[in-house]
Formats: sequence, C-alpha cells, structure tokens
Amino acid sequence: MTATETTHSTTTHSAPQPMPHADGMPPKLLVDGLSKQYGQVTALEPTQLAVEKGEFLTLLGPSGSGKTTLLQLVCGLVDRSSGRLFIDGVDQSDTPVHQRDIGLVFQHYALFPHLTVAENVAFPLKMRGCAPGELGRRVKDALDMVHLGHLADRFPRALSGGQQQRVALARCFVYQPSIILMDEPLGALDKKLRDHMQIEIKRLHRETGTTIIYVTHDQEEALAMSDRICLMNHARIEQIGAPHDIYMRPRTAFAADFIGISNIFRGEFVHGDGRPRLSTPHGLFVLPEAVTASGKGGALVVRPEHLRVGAGAANSITGTVTEVVYAGSETRVIADLGAGTQAILRLWPGEPVPRLGEPVTAGWDADNAAFVP
Ligand SMILES: Nc1ncnc2c1ncn2[C@@H]1O[C@H](COP(=O)(O)OP(=O)(O)O)[C@@H](O)[C@H]1O
Ligand SMILES: [Mg+2]
Repeated sequence: MTATETTHSTTTHSAPQPMPHADGMPPKLLVDGLSKQYGQVTALEPTQLAVEKGEFLTLLGPSGSGKTTLLQLVCGLVDRSSGRLFIDGVDQSDTPVHQRDIGLVFQHYALFPHLTVAENVAFPLKMRGCAPGELGRRVKDALDMVHLGHLADRFPRALSGGQQQRVALARCFVYQPSIILMDEPLGALDKKLRDHMQIEIKRLHRETGTTIIYVTHDQEEALAMSDRICLMNHARIEQIGAPHDIYMRPRTAFAADFIGISNIFRGEFVHGDGRPRLSTPHGLFVLPEAVTASGKGGALVVRPEHLRVGAGAANSITGTVTEVVYAGSETRVIADLGAGTQAILRLWPGEPVPRLGEPVTAGWDADNAAFVP
C-alpha cells in the first residue's frame, strides 16, 4: 500500500517547510497526525508527538498497543495512512528509510553471520562510502564504546546474546545517526544482562547525545531509562510525561495500573465542610488538595509505599493479612479488604511485619494519592 495524499485530511502542508518551535527551534522529531490502518484494524490512531533533540523517549504499553507501528512510521518502514513527519522542522514524510538519518536496533540483532564483528560494524560505513582509514578508526571507536574491541575478529555465532546485541548497538551508533529507534532491544536477554545493558544504553545515550526513541512493554525498564515516557494503549497515546510525573500523577486508571503497583479505590464524591471526599466500599476518603471534584466520582490511586501500617492517617482501610512477601530490599503485605478487593502495602526496613490471618489497619496522607476519573 502507498501513502495517499487524499487521506492526509487533518492538516495540509506545502513541503518541505521548517516548522518553528516555541523557542524558535523546531523539535528534533515531530509526528504530526501520523496514523496507520490495516484494513479494519487501526494499528495507530492519528498521533501527535514532539521529541526534543537529545531526548530519551520511551514508548511503553501492552502488546498490540501500537508501539512498533509508531516506530515503523517514524523510520518509514511502513506507509502511513495519514499525517506528516518532520525531522529538524523539515517535512520528511516521503523520504525513503535510508535517507532519514535514523538508526534502528531491534530485538533480533540481525547480524550478518558470515561477517566478523568488525565487518558487521563496518558495513553501514561502507554503504555510506566511508574512506578506509577513517572506517577502521570509527569501527574501533564503536567497538571500544560497547567494550567489544577484543572480539573484533569473532563471528556472531561465537558470541553470547548480550554480546551480539552490543555488536548491533555498535553497528547502529557507528555511523552517528542523529536519531536512533530501538524496538524492545533487550527483550531476548535474561534479567541480569538486561539490567546491565540498560545502563550501557543510557551511557551511550549520554556520551553521544543521540535522540533515542525506545520501545518496551516493561514498565520498570521505562521508569529507569527515560527522560519521558509515552504510555500507549489501544493504538493511541494514553499519557506522556517524565517517569516521576507519570508514576505520581497517572491520569487514567489504565496508567495507574500499568505503571507500578496501585491500590485503586472507586467511589462517588461527597461534598460537605472542608475538602471533598470519596465514598467507597472501603471507607470515606479525603481527596488530594489539587482535585476539583466535578462530576459523579472516580478513583483514588494509592501506591503501596504510601500505605503505612497503623491508625492515625487521614484516610485508612482495614483488612485481613493474606500474604507476606519478602523481596530482599522490601517486604510486601497483601490484605483482603472484603468485597473482592485486596490492598498491597510496602513495609519499610525495620517496620514490624503483621501476621498472616490477623487484622491490619493502614492509612495514607490525602496528598499522597492520585485521583483519576
Ligand atoms: N502488518 C500488519 N497487518 C495487520 N495488522 C497489523 C500489522 N502490524 C500490526 N498490526 C496490528 O496493529 C496493532 C498494533 O501492533 P503493534 O504496533 O505491532 O503493537 P505493539 O508493538 O505495541 O505490540 C495490533 O493490533 C496488530 O495486530
Ligand atoms: Mg512491538
């Protein structure tokens, strides 16, 4: 299928026109209404997204939410159904993949099996007509950057998964694209190696200043790595913000549930003296100060670390301890609140551990919760 101008209904641009930004500079990347339809399936709704130069932006969301589709539209691997793409303010919607100054790293490393590590890394430079002397120096620098200089003459089959992925990273960073797209690049690695590679990728990002768009379905990975997280759900952006912002101020129940662990209490507003409250099956709770209680009601989101054992807080719940989970650096307590609801509490080191089967009361400061409609 080819992109047809007739479906670009929302905006019309006479290409190529630099688009000014608030401070006079255009964003590094501007997704302006890009969408993708496969027959009846909407893989991506018309999407608006600006990425700043040097930013590390993560697309996070469940499987099928449109993350890969958005990346493919940005690099031009699939034809768009609508919208435009601007890089440095220049319309590149119709620029072929290899002319977009964009590097790609996928979960499957796709190294050339018959080429050595050094030859694999040299490949994109050869394609771009790099002179032999400079080529050797840049391959060496790129391999040193991923700590693989000593394996330059090996073939991919003689490398571990983590080493192969580092070759793939070197092969991408070596030609210095100003934007790199990574689609679940650590998905095939075990947890320990993944943690290590997260730090490596962050270091490469810091050292090169490359703009990176990174895809993962792992919320911990997204929180750990990103300048901003773009949370996706059902082919659209659900919320976008800094990790702390999204964690502390989820705007929807989906965002609260997908990122981190949440206790979610639904109810209806009760107005009276002082702050409005939420009447729920588990108690009457004071809302955070910033909330304007318009409409019928909504839900309070309370993170386990804000739910403290003991009475005395403005808002409290009571339940029966059903699980105590020791996880090394923390202990989690699961309490049954009745009516089919569980609460998850996080104990701090040194706090007394409640016993299985016993009642427990826990509370939170009203402002330590988020409200979602
Ligand atoms: N080539 C295709 N043909 C038909 N449907 C597709 C194709 N690629 C993706 N989709 C559909 O588009 C939706 C989004 O897919 P994708 O972007 O791959 O999600 P994610 O990367 O978040 O898992 C899914 O429902 C998927 O089945
Ligand atoms: Mg995907």
